Amino acid sequence: MHKAIGLIFGLTGLALISASAASADEVMARGEYLATIMDCAGCHTTGALLGKPDDERYLAGSEVGFQIPGLGIFYPPNLTPDHETGIGAWSADDIIKAVRTGERPDGRILAPVMPYLHYGRLSDADALALATYLKSLKPIRHQAPAMVVLPVWKGPTGTVIWEDNLWRKAWLDLKAEQSLVPIIVPLGDLEDTSAISPQEAEAGDAVKLESIMMRYEAKAILVAFAEPDPQGGIHAVMQGDSPLGRINFDKVYTAEDGTLEGAAAAAAKRFDEVMLEKWRSVRLKVAAETRARAEAEQQTTRATTSMAVAVPFSGIYQWNGIRARLLATPGVLGVDVSTIAENGAVIQLAFADSIQDLQSALSGSGLRLVQSRGTWVLQPL
Ligand code: HEC
Repeated sequence: MHKAIGLIFGLTGLALISASAASADEVMARGEYLATIMDCAGCHTTGALLGKPDDERYLAGSEVGFQIPGLGIFYPPNLTPDHETGIGAWSADDIIKAVRTGERPDGRILAPVMPYLHYGRLSDADALALATYLKSLKPIRHQAPAMVVLPVWKGPTGTVIWEDNLWRKAWLDLKAEQSLVPIIVPLGDLEDTSAISPQEAEAGDAVKLESIMMRYEAKAILVAFAEPDPQGGIHAVMQGDSPLGRINFDKVYTAEDGTLEGAAAAAAKRFDEVMLEKWRSVRLKVAAETRARAEAEQQTTRATTSMAVAVPFSGIYQWNGIRARLLATPGVLGVDVSTIAENGAVIQLAFADSIQDLQSALSGSGLRLVQSRGTWVLQPL
C-alpha cells in the first residue's frame, strides 16, 4: 500500500518535470507542424514546385520563381538562419511580422504570392512557434558561386589596379560580396599586389589571374577595364566566362551629375544588375531542366497495367464519345479494341497508377468503371 502511494507520488513528480521540459519541445513540434501544413516548403524548397524537393536544401530557397506581370519574378527566399543568404539576421518578431503582414524588416512589402494575407490570422502563440522553429533550422548557404572582379583603371597617369582610383572605389562601394551573385574585389594587400601587375592584367595573364581567383575561393575572375571616354563618362569593358555564362560588357556610362565617379558607380551597379538577371535566368533554366528530367523519369518509372474492360453502348456515336473521353483521361495510356459489336466492345485498357486513381480520373471524364460479376465495365456517368 505504502509502496503504491510512493509510486504515485513518484510518477506525478516525473510528470510535472517532463511537462515543463516538454513545453520548449512542444513549441518546436508545433512550429514544425505549422510549417508543414502551411506548406512553407512547398514554395521555399528547391525542386518542391516541380514535385522533387531537395531535402538537403529544406526551406533554403527555391529555383522556381513566381512571375507577376509588370512587377517581376519573385523567388521564395532562403528561410534558414544563414546570416548571409538566409534570414539569420532576423529576429523572431521580424519573421512573425513578415509572415503575418508581408512586411520585411527593411520595410519592403513582399509580393502577395507569399500567402501573408491568409497567414495574418495566425495566433500569437502559433506565429511564435513557427518563428522559433525556423530559427532552429540548420543554416544553409544558397547563393550563386562567387566571382572576383579585378578593376583596372586606365587613367591620365597610366594604368593602375591597386592604387586609390575611382574605378576601384566604385566596385568596393558596390558591396556585392554578400549579394545573391557575390562579387569579390581583391583586397589589394601585399599578396595581391605582388600577384599581378597592371600590364599582366591587361594582357590577360591566365596563370596570374587564376592565382587571385584561387586565393578568394571564387569560381571565376573577370578583369574590368575602364577609362575616361573622350565624349564624357567612362568606357567600361568586361569580357569573359563566369559560372553564369559568357559576359560581354562594353559600354560608355555617364552619370547625371556628370562626374566620372558617378559614371563609374553606374557602370558597376549595372554590371551587378546584369549578373543578378543572369543568375535568375540560369535558375529558371535549371528549374526547366529539372522539370523535364523529372517528367522523363516519371514516364519511364510509371508502372503500366492493362486489363480487359467491357464497354456497352447504344450505337457508334456513343462509342466514339466514350472513346474520346477515355483517351483524354489523365493516366490512360492506351485503348486497344479487342472486339466490337453494335452494342458494345471489349477493350484492353492500359493505364498508369492504381485502379482507384484510374477510377477517379475516369469519373472526372464522366465515365464510371465498375466491376460486375468479375468483369470490368465502363459506362457513361
Ligand atoms: C505560395 C508560395 C509560398 C508559400 C506557401 C510560402 N511562401 Fe514565403 N515567400 C514566397 C515568395 C515568392 C516570397 C518572396 C516574395 C518577395 O520577394 O516579394 C516569400 C517570402 C517570404 C519571407 C521573406 C523572406 C525574405 O528574405 O524576404 C518569409 C520570412 C517567408 N516567405 C516565410 C514563409 C513561411 C514561414 C511560410 C510557411 C508558413 C511561407 N513563407 C510560405 C512564397 C511562399
